[in-house]
Amino acid sequence: MAQNFKILVLNGPNLNLLGTREESIYGKTTLKDIQATLKKEGAKLKADITFHQSNEEGKLVAWIQKSEKKYDGLIINPAAYTHTSVAIRDAILAVNTPTVEVHLSNIYKREEFRHHSFVSAVAIGQIAGFGPHGYTLALMALVNHLKNA
Ligand code: DQA
Repeated sequence: MAQNFKILVLNGPNLNLLGTREESIYGKTTLKDIQATLKKEGAKLKADITFHQSNEEGKLVAWIQKSEKKYDGLIINPAAYTHTSVAIRDAILAVNTPTVEVHLSNIYKREEFRHHSFVSAVAIGQIAGFGPHGYTLALMALVNHLKNA
């Protein structure tokens, strides 16, 4: 029997506050809710999910660096670091772990400084604007990509 895919899911700064943070943009779903849903969806898709959040850029970089040997793929919502972090982009490039970028909100509908992502050019693709469901969509897309790789 084929082994489950191992998927690392990383969340950047302030996403620990989901559920109470700017509810009109991000909704009421908490990060714990998202994690629970992803674990369930992962079981259906034969993917084991490891889930982390940090407010620190260096921690996210360290997790990405370690991802190559331990995981088949990465789902990342870099949050505000999307728009600022060359370090996160370079880490993804350095390890070659197939990566899907997720945003709860449609960043292109929002302030201009959110329109540029340092990560999208090094990701397989980006999902934005579908709220918490975006994580499930990202998982489906990543597993499909890995199956066809
Ligand atoms: C976000 C969008 C970013 O612009 C913002 O800084 C976030 C969350 C999203 O999921 O919509 O913190 O990544």
